This record gives sequence, C-alpha cells and structure tokens, in this order.
Amino acid sequence: MGDNGSVDAQPGYDALAEQYASTFPSPFVTVLERHAVDAFAEQVRASAPDASVIDVGCGTGGVAAHLTEHGLSVRGVDPSEEMLAIARRQYPHLSFEVGDADLDAVDLAEVHGVVARFSLIHLPPDRVRATLADWASRLPTGAWLLVATQASDDPGVHEFDHHVARAWRWHPETLAAAVDAAGFAEEWRAVSRPDVDYHHRFPEIHLVARCR
Ligand SMILES: C[S@@+](CC[C@H](N)C(=O)[O-])C[C@H]1O[C@@H](n2cnc3c(N)ncnc32)[C@H](O)[C@@H]1O
Repeated sequence: MGDNGSVDAQPGYDALAEQYASTFPSPFVTVLERHAVDAFAEQVRASAPDASVIDVGCGTGGVAAHLTEHGLSVRGVDPSEEMLAIARRQYPHLSFEVGDADLDAVDLAEVHGVVARFSLIHLPPDRVRATLADWASRLPTGAWLLVATQASDDPGVHEFDHHVARAWRWHPETLAAAVDAAGFAEEWRAVSRPDVDYHHRFPEIHLVARCR
C-alpha cells in the first residue's frame, strides 16, 4: 500500500482492458446487480418511452448493451480508449465516445437519465459531489440517475485498494447525502453484503434518484 492508502501499482484501465474484459464477460456479477439495472431501465422507460441515457464510465459496454436491449437509447462515455475499443468491437451498433465524468461534450438538457456504475468510485469524493451537482444543474427536472459504488459500513468515504486505479467506497448514507445535496431526490437504493462466492469484498450500493 502507498502512503495515501492506495495500492502501489495501479496500471489503469488502458493497460488492463483486455484482462478486465475476460475477467468480467458480463457486467453483472450478481442477480441483484442485474435486477437493480433492470428496475432503473423500466422506470426510465415508463417516464419517457423514447428515453436517452448516458452511461458514464461505460467501460467495455456491457451495461450500455443491456440497457439498449431494454429499449433505451444509450450513449457510452469513458476516458479509457482501450476499454472503448473493446466496447466498439463487442457492440459495433452502439455509440461510444471518449470522455470524462464531467460530460463536457454532452448536452444533458435532452437526456432522460445518467448511469454511473462503478465509475464515480474513481473520482475523489469532492469531485464526485461537484460532478453530481453539475449534472443536476444541466439535466431536466425528473431525469433519472443510477449510481453504483462499492460501499462501506463505516460512515464517510474511504479509499480502498482497487487493483486498476485509485478508488473510493461510500457509506450508503454518505452517498445518499451527496446525491441529495447535488440536487437529486432519492427514489430507492439496493445494498448487498460482501459475498465471497462473487469475489465481492465489500458491500455494494445501487442508488436511484431523480433530478429536482
Ligand atoms: C469498474 S469499470 C465499470 C464499467 C461499467 N460501468 C460497468 O458497470 O461494468 C470502471 C470504468 O470507469 C471508468 N472511469 C475511470 N475514471 C473515470 C472518470 N474520471 N470518468 C468517467 N469514467 C471513468 C474506467 O475507464 C472504467 O471503464
């Protein structure tokens, strides 16, 4: 471990993209993860049948493809060229572009939802708060948000030894408070316990909210 609590060698997603894709051929390791995303997709579609969604930190594209199969129009955004190369190879019919969580190149005014699964974990906590507030200021009222992170039973936000890049896990109440303060009203959350069968060392949270 480094002095700051991060692991010493974090090669980043470009270096580990192919390994990541073969380790996680499906974006859903557990049944709950899939159902949480499905519930989000169904709710977005019920509120806007032609809904368009941004998948922030889409990685190798599995969630974007899944949401597309559920009738959403999805645009995947990720800073890793190598993760996107795999996404484009696997899902050539979908739209993927290089970009950061700040979504500078995306007009959020016409967007019905934003998904950020295990991508905001790679932003320092204050940047997550600022990013969520920025999204809320640019999204229409009622737009949906799905944020998933590794969670913590201890209050606050804690850096952990992620093997790819620096990462932070959030206590569910801390994440909920950040989402609320940013300008979203929570709809629901699903929190799972650590599970050795799934190689999940930590609890995980999927939190869904709507822009005020
Ligand atoms: C654990 S993967 C999750 C991939 C996908 N969202 C899923 O649920 O399967 C994390 C992704 O977040 C991306 N990421 C890292 N830093 C980011 C940032 N600052 N903004 C947006 N995405 C980021 C990585 O490139 C990587 O593809």
